Amino acid sequence: MRNLAREKLKGICGVYKDCDGDPRRLCQGQSYGRALGIGGIGSGASFNNNFLALRKHNLKMELIEKDIVPNTFYDFFGIKLTMPIMVASVAGVNSFGGDNVITEQDFCHAVVQGCKDAGTLGWRGDTYTYSLENSYGIDAIAVAGGYGVKIVKPRDQKTIINFFKKAEEARCVAVGVDIDGCGSYAMATHNKPVFKKSVKSLKELISATNLPVIIKGVMCIKDALKAIEVGAAAIVVSNHGGRVLDHTPGTADVLREIAAQVKGKIKVIVDGGVRTGYDVLKMLALGAESVLIGRDIIRAAVGAGSEGVKIHMEYMQNTLVKAMRMTSCSSIEEITPDVLV
Ligand SMILES: Cc1cc2nc3c(=O)[nH]c(=O)nc-3n(C[C@H](O)[C@H](O)[C@H](O)COP(=O)(O)O)c2cc1C
Repeated sequence: MRNLAREKLKGICGVYKDCDGDPRRLCQGQSYGRALGIGGIGSGASFNNNFLALRKHNLKMELIEKDIVPNTFYDFFGIKLTMPIMVASVAGVNSFGGDNVITEQDFCHAVVQGCKDAGTLGWRGDTYTYSLENSYGIDAIAVAGGYGVKIVKPRDQKTIINFFKKAEEARCVAVGVDIDGCGSYAMATHNKPVFKKSVKSLKELISATNLPVIIKGVMCIKDALKAIEVGAAAIVVSNHGGRVLDHTPGTADVLREIAAQVKGKIKVIVDGGVRTGYDVLKMLALGAESVLIGRDIIRAAVGAGSEGVKIHMEYMQNTLVKAMRMTSCSSIEEITPDVLV
């Protein structure tokens, strides 16, 4: 699967052993006039910081006790998932190398169906090629019987509300806005206006739908508190995989203080640099209740479609089970900061 992805993504992604945002990787070092590809914005420091922030933490083995088979079940808005791991709202993968790599329709289908087959949920994103008429993500979710989450870029209010309505018709589990998408390079270079959203605007969006609304792209306590104030159902602590602003901290570096302020009042989800179940355990120990994974799923879907996504999600679950067993956590509710050293 990874070999196939390496061939198809030639010049875009090296499908390295570590997807770490190191400045020497071929995806890194954005240059003027070139599309962002799969790397990070500018110097790529924000992408790299996500990886480095997780590397600061290690896991404490705790072994002398009765053996356990950890339970990774996770309740997400009333839906029982096999794991607290979902696929991030990644969009525009067809722009990497045209339809020879993968079409946007096939990519969305691979993510949503592969996740469903693994017992979890695929989130779908939004980019300049998407419109109400061509909403590849929502279409794929509709085919899967509503099994997915739709995240809309912070476009004008009316367009977002129309996307939310379409998501309701498709019976999506939840919708949301990636508020950090106001820094989107792809939208800016294709003349698709995106905006910062005020408390008032977010309240208007939330009252326009009966679905739970997720605010993705929270990197400070102030924004997390405002997400509660506007009535959001969840936040995603995220810097968009380091693609919207150069020189932001890694998400694992800000997660603990944000979660400490808001946990219990709103769902806290996180993404950025999560590559294995060991990373998932670290994020849950720092205060998240679930995680999203982005870039690894691009490689899985390009390499082997929905089967690739399913295999990768099962790998994520298996490594989480191993991490929990070796640190003495029998369920995700039992994970505390104590597992970290
Ligand atoms: C190619 C690419 C496209 C993305 N498109 C979107 C998008 O449309 N909407 C969104 O909310 N986030 C988007 N993201 C960010 C991801 O949802 C997620 O936050 C990030 O990829 C997580 O980091 P990771 O790739 O290191 O796992 C994109 C990321 C990548 C790499």
